[in-house]
Amino acid sequence: MFTTALAQREKTEQGDLPLDLFAAIETLKQELNAVILAHYYQEPDIQDIADFIGDSLQLAKAAADTNADVIVFAGVHFMAETAKILNPDKMVLLPDLNAGCSLADSCPAEAFAAFKAAHPNHLVVSYINCSADIKAMSDIICTSSNAVKIVQQIPKYQPIIFAPDRNLGRYVMEKTGRDLVLWEGSCVVHETFSEKKIVQLKIAHPQAEAIAHPECETSVLRHANFIGSTAALLKYCEQSPCQEFIVATEPGIIHQMQKRAPYKRFIPAPPLNNCACNECPFMRLNTLEKLYCVMKNRSAEIILPENIRITALRPIQRMLEMSV
Ligand code: 13P
Ligand code: SF4
Repeated sequence: MFTTALAQREKTEQGDLPLDLFAAIETLKQELNAVILAHYYQEPDIQDIADFIGDSLQLAKAAADTNADVIVFAGVHFMAETAKILNPDKMVLLPDLNAGCSLADSCPAEAFAAFKAAHPNHLVVSYINCSADIKAMSDIICTSSNAVKIVQQIPKYQPIIFAPDRNLGRYVMEKTGRDLVLWEGSCVVHETFSEKKIVQLKIAHPQAEAIAHPECETSVLRHANFIGSTAALLKYCEQSPCQEFIVATEPGIIHQMQKRAPYKRFIPAPPLNNCACNECPFMRLNTLEKLYCVMKNRSAEIILPENIRITALRPIQRMLEMSV
């Protein structure tokens, strides 16, 4: 009964799906001269079929460098939007156009324009997890892997607004000793980790190292042996002599950690409740089936008004220049 219902749903929502989706996607990739870029938070199948997997900065660089005609972006909307800003002549597809981001949503354009107007003479450094409208109002974009480096390159006398993530902003303040004006945005996933449960895990696994993404709250970050972007966390796990890690970020990345260090143990940091809310509900909207369907139908394309695209491009290019 359930299988029939499921098959029915696939037929109506996604058409007839081939039995070997991996092979069908490979064929479409050749036909379209497409490249599949995937973030570490994507489901394992998508990570396995991607041509390139990376953190936000690596993916932005890959999007800037690709010769493909079509970019299939297995990530969230702001990431695909960044790829489109960098590649106006390419088709950019997102497996599910509803794959947004709570952090980007926490910074609406109108309210941010008023915030910016209330802080004249401030340079705006925005985390890449924001809409094209916010990027267009920014001077420099940063990601979690270059935020500290970028702020350090700005003259000390220059006041700075940092948006939209307050937790990354606080982390950058601590690392640089700079006083930043923070926009009070946050990520629902990274604010779900429980300090108490992480401490309990550390007691239960005294050999384990805790590693965390800087989008986590200070109360969690203070228990971390290492803090970094998804790519930095991955590299740290590979290189550390430690055999066990408590991972305070979206658990999709554990697929790569396990692949690169198969004999090590990775324990996902627990959320506050017994929910699965440490999984990003937006990233997880993308599935292999949807990826196949958007490639087949050339649907779910990212389209941007040209004036916004051009204005948003400048701060992204500045980031790329400042992070070589
Ligand atoms: P990274 O910059 O580490 O890829 O982070 C992206 C993100 O969305 C974290 O929530
Ligand atoms: Fe956005 Fe958080 Fe999901 Fe990253 S994990 S895409 S910041 S909601």
